[in-house]
Amino acid sequence: MIYRDKKTQAFLLSGKNYSYAMYVNRLGMLQNLHYGAKIEKADLDYLAAHIADPQVPQADDINRDMAADVLPSEYGYYARGDYREPTAIVERSDGAVMSQFTYVSHKVQKGAPAVPGLPHMRSADETLSIVLRDAFSDTEITLHYTVCDDSDVLVRNAEIANVGKQPIVLQKAFSFCVDLPNAGYDLLRLTGNWAAERSVDVAPLGKGITRIQSLRGISSAQFNPFVALLKKACTEEQGECYGFQLVYSGSFALSVEADTHQSVRVQGGVADTAFSWTLDSGERFVAPQAALCYSAQGLGGLSRAYADCIRERIVHPKWAYHKRPIVVNNWEATYFDFTAEKLFPIIDEAAKLGIDTFVLDDGWFGKRDSDRSGLGDWTINEKKLNGGLHTVIDRCKQRGLRFGLWFEPEMVNEDSDLFRKHPDYALAKTGVEPCRSRFQLLLDFTRADVVDYIFASVSKVIKEHDIAYVKWDMNRYLTECYSAKLPADRQGEFMHRYILGVYDLAERLTSAFPDVFFEGCASGGARFDAGAAYYFPQTWTSDNTDAYDRTKIQWGTSLCYPLSTMSCHVSACPNHQTGRTLPLATRGAIASLGATGYELDLSKLTDAEKAECKRQVEAYGRIADLMLTGDLYRLRNPFTDNEFCVMVVSKDKSTAYVVGERFRTTPRGPAIRLPLTGLDAAKTYYIEELDATASGKALRSVGATMPDLHDGESFAWHIREVKH
Ligand code: GLA
Repeated sequence: MIYRDKKTQAFLLSGKNYSYAMYVNRLGMLQNLHYGAKIEKADLDYLAAHIADPQVPQADDINRDMAADVLPSEYGYYARGDYREPTAIVERSDGAVMSQFTYVSHKVQKGAPAVPGLPHMRSADETLSIVLRDAFSDTEITLHYTVCDDSDVLVRNAEIANVGKQPIVLQKAFSFCVDLPNAGYDLLRLTGNWAAERSVDVAPLGKGITRIQSLRGISSAQFNPFVALLKKACTEEQGECYGFQLVYSGSFALSVEADTHQSVRVQGGVADTAFSWTLDSGERFVAPQAALCYSAQGLGGLSRAYADCIRERIVHPKWAYHKRPIVVNNWEATYFDFTAEKLFPIIDEAAKLGIDTFVLDDGWFGKRDSDRSGLGDWTINEKKLNGGLHTVIDRCKQRGLRFGLWFEPEMVNEDSDLFRKHPDYALAKTGVEPCRSRFQLLLDFTRADVVDYIFASVSKVIKEHDIAYVKWDMNRYLTECYSAKLPADRQGEFMHRYILGVYDLAERLTSAFPDVFFEGCASGGARFDAGAAYYFPQTWTSDNTDAYDRTKIQWGTSLCYPLSTMSCHVSACPNHQTGRTLPLATRGAIASLGATGYELDLSKLTDAEKAECKRQVEAYGRIADLMLTGDLYRLRNPFTDNEFCVMVVSKDKSTAYVVGERFRTTPRGPAIRLPLTGLDAAKTYYIEELDATASGKALRSVGATMPDLHDGESFAWHIREVKH
């Protein structure tokens, strides 16, 4: 709901459980009045009389503008009295840098705004667009606020337009800014590395600016484009918290500033390091969307709101609730060393186990016998696949499997026909030796002709074969961020233009092949973000498939992404990344908490292991729907506890699935009680594996006792409502 109050002139935006209020103050500045629990229209009188004005010091004219420094602003400005980090920095053609954005007009429109070229919320109830103007630089900023009545996610972004005659340069152009009162929050970040993506890091927010960012060209394994502010009493299911995530996959920054007036400014968008964007007269820059979320039901409430929003409104509707393929991927089974004949036993076995899709990973193209050559040549490696891909696809078809194929569209090896023919398509014409991470260079995706070329060559393969699934990989961070085709004074646009090129290709490929299911990947989960979810209904969560490490990686990822976007596979032991051995049942249980699959040579399994995999695939069938539509409740935290446990509950609370793992056994250790918080207190439930019936009330408060497990063992419970 979006409401403009006639008397106070305040704006009130309300979703399912939150309200967001602001008004235009005496400086003409758009000032925040409230972001948090729901309030009523009638409360705006109180806000205007007792919250808004007292915050504006009754300053004389000389000091008036300095008041901006202590006011909660909706878009911070520079060199006009607001000394916190600015949200945008605008340079005029004479070199002067200052701005002060004041209210001009607003309008309310039905639905979600189109954001051309960028991933965005596809549907919503209403959007409020407020135009602010900086007279000094002739810049107009439109702030969009998109509201869904049944959601706790509020989507914001900014569009910056040059409405003057001279060019202007944006030195920074963030998407949003929110100032919250009463510091004293904990700051939650998702941080990590390759094979350890999205570890949960929570620390008290100290004074000054805490910034997370990626300057790597993609959202990165190091910092996910998400932060949360937690009030001190916030736990998994209780207390207040705020989430801020970018619907963006490129270099980003999110900055949290606790100032000396006890307020906290959160803002973010495209990374401003080495960024600049020239706007000629009449041009506009569209900043990516940010999804803000308020929860009074702790982090669990925040996660469920984000999960609903992403699968309901960001993932393509065709795939959002579409049954996920159960894949077997040959990467860890064969790496580069395969022929069609070597793949057949895997395909044959997959069919026997009930797996429905075979994915041929890296190595099927060009002269790709190792990671030193072939990238960019999207033609069949006949040496390995004599008879072409068709041989493998036919085998899949004969066995009733669909076929998936790996690409890494953004890359080129110097040892490739593409590089020999078009060396200029690659980055690194800078006169320095390029960084050759994984022996490969990046293609210049800021160039439309390069994107066109890759679109044509990838499309040709998809068109000529029966391909149901594409795994789009991206295996190195950006260096030598320079495009030979951009003018010298526009090189600051490189990073954002790169990701716009990636989005352009993703949009074109997914539109040209609407029946192909696209999975995202970047050295595991280094591009796992809401922007990627717009094109890729699921993303490979991590190259680390160890069922201990995965409890942490999947826990962290689940804080702001739905389980249905998380691709989770069972792999061989000892695990290729950690060397650890864990029971196959545990690997299956942890991999069942998302889009499940296998990443090993099925033909090498013992009969008992094959039987276990078959059981897992069948069991996944029972809960597949829950993974697409259910609500997640996290019960035992692998970062702090000796156990991991989560439950997924259907929206109508009639069925639930609980999975747990114990890391280390303690003889005669404590009996761990698991309050099954996701159940409905008013219903009665049956826990199949325990043969136990109890009220939801008892299962929520008394809980259920975790089975006595040895190191690395797991359990799974299926729970259903008992109707009287
Ligand atoms: C990345 C991916 C893996 C695999 C390899 C192939 O590391 O994360 O799943 O596809 O590339 O080179």
